[in-house]
Amino acid sequence: MTDNHQKKKGRILTGDRPTGKFHLGHYVGTLRNRVKLQDEYDTFLLIADYHSLTTHPEKADVVRTRANIREAVLANYAAGVDPDKVTYYVQSDVPETAELTLLFAMLVTVPRLERIPTLKDVMRDQHIEQPSSGLMNYPVLQAADILAPRADLVPVGKDQESHVELTREIARRFNNTFGAVFPEPQALIGDVATLVGTDGQAKMSKSLGNAIFLDDDPDAVKQKVFNMYTDPKRIRADVPGTVEGNPVFIYHDAFNPNKEEVDDLKDRYRKGKVGDVEVKQKLTVAINNFLEPFRARRAYLEARPDDVIDILRNGLSRARPIAQETLTLAREAMGLTSVVYPSLTEMYTGRAPAYSAD
Ligand code: TRP
Repeated sequence: MTDNHQKKKGRILTGDRPTGKFHLGHYVGTLRNRVKLQDEYDTFLLIADYHSLTTHPEKADVVRTRANIREAVLANYAAGVDPDKVTYYVQSDVPETAELTLLFAMLVTVPRLERIPTLKDVMRDQHIEQPSSGLMNYPVLQAADILAPRADLVPVGKDQESHVELTREIARRFNNTFGAVFPEPQALIGDVATLVGTDGQAKMSKSLGNAIFLDDDPDAVKQKVFNMYTDPKRIRADVPGTVEGNPVFIYHDAFNPNKEEVDDLKDRYRKGKVGDVEVKQKLTVAINNFLEPFRARRAYLEARPDDVIDILRNGLSRARPIAQETLTLAREAMGLTSVVYPSLTEMYTGRAPAYSAD
């Protein structure tokens, strides 16, 4: 950690479930903001492997998750996350998170958790009839992630907003009940809140098969762009088309830095003076230019597998003592002190109490 954390504006915490590949939707939803803000904010980034257990609790799932941890580090590095600036770690390497979750769970009612929209979405998408209490507590666990480093700002995709709202409620409730320990963190949603899929469906997602991945090669990008859904009414190049809500133009706006080119294409599209091929050709070039530095950074880290572990080890060595400190503050505020350990700090650091030698 080379830079001075004290000078920064505040703390960020965000994270990813280790589900595999990352796509452009992840980038505009949250990766872009974390990269943009890593200089200004003291940034904590975690790989949420406990969260994966909430829907995938079996041994084979856990084994698969281990491989996806590496994938998460590669993708974030490729997107521009700088491990010298960001404290990057694996959630379950900080078990204090689980204790904080337990304490917070006492401050949240079951009906409140049942009202969180993501619970219903996940149950529907994953065909879960009865949620485990672990799945119900998913947003409480997320609150523990955020509040362990006492973060102020949480860059997330739109779908995670309700979890940050619950985090604020928990912080407020804790502070009112026991004394001020926690900030009330703000969510920061990406400017493209939800990116449409290449098929025109509302959301880009791996499971829907409508994603452009950050590590797609130039040919894969080209093929996906040329198969993209556009204005279905436009059966010929001379038919005027609709730009608004059209996925190819949404992507041009998001990934083509040449605004003049984009405006010209939109103008001609509206007038029926441009073919889909030209629009898609230019989009292919734009997305491939955009992803080229990602590919280079990814290749660099892929060639250095030990560095992936070092990144997570360094992050952990900073994140865990901070989580221990937060837990100490929380327990002291609650009056939940130990009758065995002289201080909670000693309890969490593992040092034997001074009088135990006698
Ligand atoms: N639930 C988040 C997602 O699915 C991942 C996550 C876990 C997270 N802990 C977090 C995001 C804390 C922000 C803050 O995308």
